[in-house]
Amino acid sequence: MRKNLISLDKSQMNESIIKKSLKIGVVGIGRIGLPTALCFANASFQTIGIDINEKLVDMINSGNYPLKDEPEFDKIFENVISKKMFSATTDISEAIPNCDIILLSLPTPMDHQNVPDYTALLTVGKTLNGLLADGQIVIVESTVEPGFIENELLNTIEGPEKNLISGKDFHLAVCPETANPGEIMNDFKKLPRLVGAIDEKISPLVSSLYTDVFGVELIPMPNCKTANAVKLTTNVFRDINIAFVNELAILFEKLGIDTYTVIDAAKRKYNFQPHIPGPGVGGPCLPVNSYQYLNSSKKIDSNFLKIVQDARKINESMPNHVINLLNDAFFESKKPLENSTVTLLGVSYKPNVHDIQIAPSEEIAKLLDKKNIQLKIFDPFFINETVFGYKVEKSITDALIGTDAMILITAHNEFKKLNLTSIFSSLNKPILIDCTGIIDPKNAKSNGIIFRGIGRGDNF
Ligand SMILES: NC(=O)c1ccc[n+]([C@@H]2O[C@H](COP(=O)([O-])OP(=O)(O)OC[C@H]3O[C@@H](n4cnc5c(N)ncnc54)[C@H](O)[C@@H]3O)[C@@H](O)[C@H]2O)c1
Repeated sequence: MRKNLISLDKSQMNESIIKKSLKIGVVGIGRIGLPTALCFANASFQTIGIDINEKLVDMINSGNYPLKDEPEFDKIFENVISKKMFSATTDISEAIPNCDIILLSLPTPMDHQNVPDYTALLTVGKTLNGLLADGQIVIVESTVEPGFIENELLNTIEGPEKNLISGKDFHLAVCPETANPGEIMNDFKKLPRLVGAIDEKISPLVSSLYTDVFGVELIPMPNCKTANAVKLTTNVFRDINIAFVNELAILFEKLGIDTYTVIDAAKRKYNFQPHIPGPGVGGPCLPVNSYQYLNSSKKIDSNFLKIVQDARKINESMPNHVINLLNDAFFESKKPLENSTVTLLGVSYKPNVHDIQIAPSEEIAKLLDKKNIQLKIFDPFFINETVFGYKVEKSITDALIGTDAMILITAHNEFKKLNLTSIFSSLNKPILIDCTGIIDPKNAKSNGIIFRGIGRGDNF
């Protein structure tokens, strides 16, 4: 029978890590969970990934790797699969009893009313109630609002009849993940991690384990809710600052000031943190994290965190601003917007990833659709796929055939490498709306392009 991990003294804990005798289970092997699981396996801990997605599990077990947009991921995947240190399963009941440490990297999205949806964590929590027995440690890596672990998740794992007791039958801790898609393997090696636990005694073991696997600084937190508050604060800070710069960008367009010139100069002051404007804020983190904080705060007073409410409104209104810029450009071109053809360049919510979760491009596509505009899409990360009901074009050349206007939404490296200005200038009276700041407005205009850019005032 497994030794209850809480009964280990410091040297026994260290020994279990040095000897790699702990078995690791990672529930949820998506964008974050799979690279995490592979890092544990790569550090010589026998690791199993558990997921409800059968296709994903089969793909991994047959040696094919997902996440082709994550640099360095292929090497570690091939290494741990060939050494048989990692496999995947859909059978949680069989896998969990063999694990000492169980990481939860489950999705924490929001519903259509922007209410956080913790169904995956609570479903797995309920299942764990029937599977945990002898002091395993459950570590939640998912992003949740402060208090969710101490209240909903703890109660769910302990069960309504309290057949399991935290601190005795199992231990609950958090280590929120902060890595950035497209840079995950690199971030794992450099970003500090936060550790909080229901029973503080278990934190040193969690910290030593993560230090062994990732070699990064571990920041001890007094409890789970403080760790989760840190994670939310870093992301919501960005959502608010992007909203500020988005609002400035709209003002500067009217004042004839170039936002990028302002940011470039402002960042030379030591305490200014640059954020850039854009067509909105997407992805599975920032928008959701703001709503997670708002969900926490409204339980106390709906007037709390007004600044976060305003930031959301501003960032969610940016696709409308993109359409206003497009209208304005069509007006200058004297061509009708209705029944025109518009090409979206880039649909991912951020550069260099294959990911359209909560992407502003979707709202932009819907707004164009309502105006009966013919839509074409080109994104090098989605070639041959169908996105928002449109088949993605095979090349930028195909994407530009018969188009009246382009909206550059995502600053993928591939777009930076191309001389877009000269490519577009071959079209008749082309319109270009740049949401990214990568196009030099002067260059565009001198090439005969009718140009509008978010935050680009008229001073060039
Ligand atoms: N992607 C990011 O940028 C990022 C960064 C830091 C933190 N996070 C947080 O990490 C968590 C995971 O995010 P992600 O982006 O990896 O999500 P993801 O959607 O890529 O992966 C989640 C995985 O969980 C699986 N799953 C869903 N329900 C399940 C269940 N009941 N049992 C077993 N498996 C189940 C899904 O099939 C999927 O493979 C979220 O809380 C997210 O906020 C994400």
